[in-house]
Amino acid sequence: MDTSIPLPLLGGLAPDQFMRRHWQKKPLLVRAAVPGLRPLLGRTELFGLAARDDVESRLVQARGGRWQLRRGPLTRRALPPLSQPDWTLLVQGVDLHDDRAHALLQQFRFVPDARLDDLMISFATDGGGVGPHFDSYDVCLLQAEGRRRWRIGRQRDLTLHEGLPLKILANFEPEEEYLLEPGDMLYLPPRYAHDGIAEGECQTYSIGFRAPQRGELAQELLQRLADDARDSAGEALYRDAGHAPTATPGAIPAELVAFAREALAAALKDPGALERTLGEYLTEPKPQVWFEGGRAPRRLDSVVLDRRTRMMHDARHVFVNGESWRAAGADARLMRRLADRRALTAQDLAGASEGALELLRSWCEAGWLHENGG
Ligand code: SIN
Ligand code: CO
Repeated sequence: MDTSIPLPLLGGLAPDQFMRRHWQKKPLLVRAAVPGLRPLLGRTELFGLAARDDVESRLVQARGGRWQLRRGPLTRRALPPLSQPDWTLLVQGVDLHDDRAHALLQQFRFVPDARLDDLMISFATDGGGVGPHFDSYDVCLLQAEGRRRWRIGRQRDLTLHEGLPLKILANFEPEEEYLLEPGDMLYLPPRYAHDGIAEGECQTYSIGFRAPQRGELAQELLQRLADDARDSAGEALYRDAGHAPTATPGAIPAELVAFAREALAAALKDPGALERTLGEYLTEPKPQVWFEGGRAPRRLDSVVLDRRTRMMHDARHVFVNGESWRAAGADARLMRRLADRRALTAQDLAGASEGALELLRSWCEAGWLHENGG
């Protein structure tokens, strides 16, 4: 993607400008971001997804002024009638289950895959909404059907109502109001307060982003690095030849503390290990994702990643679905191309080494990669 080309999706801004001016900083309202957008899934299809146990869904209702939340799977009978106002069905990760939703999410790949989360669809009857709140992550709210009135504000007071099943701001102070029509989009940076209320039957698509939390990331990486620590730190025993006798036997020797520090430093020394572990972690498939094994094609003409496959790269590795490979030279260039474009053409594959083709075939067998059009 040429990130200097203006996009209707960003209201005529190029991704370069959007990232500089708005990303993580300030909202952007885009009229006709996706001109002529029609819902990708009809409501019956959406209700079908909500009933599945490998799909995360929630039903939110405000009944008699009281907020209620019910977690899926939600059969059609668990949903209120369409004639009843004020309810919302939220279906998470639709891009994992539907190629059209996956394709829509691809338009946002001017943000790295490591930061792109999922496409959530919310269906609401008239008056439906999830209340005034803020999210921890950036979000693009794309109106797909009907209309939704958004009120938004910078909100200093982040106090929440107590005792509710949802995070609802106690003292929401909206500053701006927009009525979104199909195709319109509202970008909000993290922690920007918002409240969207459906005017008539309505579908809104939330393009969600993710950001690792520092402490959680440290815990995750350390846990993974711990598995390799025995090998990288070695088997040397602590030695204290010549140590003077102690009069304070309860005290831990300073040399032993230093030995522990060295052991840890040795386990963390290899920068490659950290990078590898990070890539494996970032490409780990979501918990509800299963791949059905595929057929390994004899000839590879052109290939496309499965919509559920997470693939990334760094200078020395390629990562696919939680696994890593060292790659260099032409093979690395080919694999990086696959990660960036999510597909390889016959031309790309023409000069591929036997090793690279073998790897691609094994990914086809795992169901991570498919023959394009096959
Ligand atoms: C919704 O679309 O109803 C909720 C999305 C959000 O506020 O983040
Ligand atoms: Co929100």
